[in-house]
Amino acid sequence: MRTVFRIETPSLVLRPQGDTQRMLEMSREDCARQWLPSQIYRDERHAATAVAYLIGQFNLDASPTTNAFVFGVEEKVTGRLIGHVGLSPLFDTVEVGFGIATSEQRKGYATEGVARVCAWGLERFSIPAIVGVTDKQNVASQRVLIRCGFIRKEEKMMRFQGVDRPVVVFELRRKEPNQSAAANRRPAGQSDGSDNLSATLAAAEDGQTKTQNGGQTVLGNSGDRDARARGRFQRVVNACP
Ligand SMILES: CC(C)(COP(=O)(O)OP(=O)(O)OC[C@H]1O[C@@H](n2cnc3c(N)ncnc32)[C@H](O)[C@@H]1OP(=O)(O)O)[C@@H](O)C(=O)NCCC(=O)NCCS
Repeated sequence: MRTVFRIETPSLVLRPQGDTQRMLEMSREDCARQWLPSQIYRDERHAATAVAYLIGQFNLDASPTTNAFVFGVEEKVTGRLIGHVGLSPLFDTVEVGFGIATSEQRKGYATEGVARVCAWGLERFSIPAIVGVTDKQNVASQRVLIRCGFIRKEEKMMRFQGVDRPVVVFELRRKEPNQSAAANRRPAGQSDGSDNLSATLAAAEDGQTKTQNGGQTVLGNSGDRDARARGRFQRVVNACP
């Protein structure tokens, strides 16, 4: 019997996609149509072809530099497929992609799934980094990436989801055993509006909970919240095999 590879997080089971009907339903939701237009399936047959392709790609002897590793995201309490998180090749790098069904959004599921899959991918395949590419207007997906420790690298025009559009590129680098959080910070002077958050995440990694604000060290609500989010990310990573 074939063993189905799966990863568990506190709230989710992540495993290769299988439920064609649910994939079709989710691909037709407004949110997915807006931000993932290249992943809308025409009908169940089209979705089934995609599932077969993705299952064929999910080969643990290969690597996300050549193959797509897309997990279906299943909610543990209901056993229902509620989204996907995947790693796939993008030029000479690996990109993370993700989506959560509208009814299940804003529950922390994307953050939980993306954090775990990225930690797994960096470790399992010894890849140096994973990138996240979002439409410039897609604030929700940018929040997910930042929550998962990604650093905002650049804005540029890129062919994305089949259209040339302004995108923001994020990156998560694998930590070497002795590497401090400072190595994942952006060089001084490159502000992108999320400096406080990045500093907070890095500080939280260093065991601090303080943020810098105009030269003053403060403990603010957003700082506390960000540090808590980083803690959540760490717990997710630690809780899994
Ligand atoms: C992006 C997406 C996956 C987020 O899923 P989610 O499970 O709701 O995300 P989480 O609950 O983990 O929330 C993570 C952060 O995003 C924020 N967020 C979620 N939805 C948001 C929205 N519609 N607008 C603004 N922020 C949003 C949350 O508030 C949270 O940030 P915070 O902790 O700073 O408050 C979901 O909106 C989606 O599937 N979108 C369509 C597909 C897509 O855009 N994929 C990414 C392509 S690059």
